[in-house]
Amino acid sequence: QKHKIMAGNRTFSMIKPDAVQAGNTGAILKMIEEAGFRISAMRMTKLSKQRAGQFYAVHKERPFYNDLCEYMSSGHIVALILEKENAVADFRKLIGATDPAKAEEGTIRKLFAKSIEANAIHGSDSDENAEIEAAFFFSKMQQY
Ligand code: PPS
Repeated sequence: QKHKIMAGNRTFSMIKPDAVQAGNTGAILKMIEEAGFRISAMRMTKLSKQRAGQFYAVHKERPFYNDLCEYMSSGHIVALILEKENAVADFRKLIGATDPAKAEEGTIRKLFAKSIEANAIHGSDSDENAEIEAAFFFSKMQQY
């Protein structure tokens, strides 16, 4: 079945190495689906440090850049394209604040993140970045 994909209705997410390693992939996917997101593409993979560096290139001047790239290449991740109306903003709300200590009750990071670095999940911060990040992992043919 073909879906019409309209701007603003898609986001990109990664379940990060800490959450995959801890066996929380299934629980996190369940929360995502129960919040009304449709999984449009999904792939488990492992990033090299260099490829993690490309993904997070916008943060290359930040002090945590090297640690972030080390961490994101330390284990498997699950890359996801998600569809829902108002996807980017609604997904950021579902995952909660970057620092789990500041994340609201009931958010994915509050429930599963271990620290500001090992914070369980990524969500795109704009429609434009959602498309760039989706294309980093999936060809058009891999998106349903
Ligand atoms: S935002 O929304 O871009 O402003 O978020 P920000 O808080 O700036 O963080 C950007 C990404 O960097 C990660 N991060 C860190 N990693 C390691 N150590 C420290 N101290 C740290 N602070 C922030 C954060 O998890 C964001 O990753 P993603 O994958 O984009 O969520």
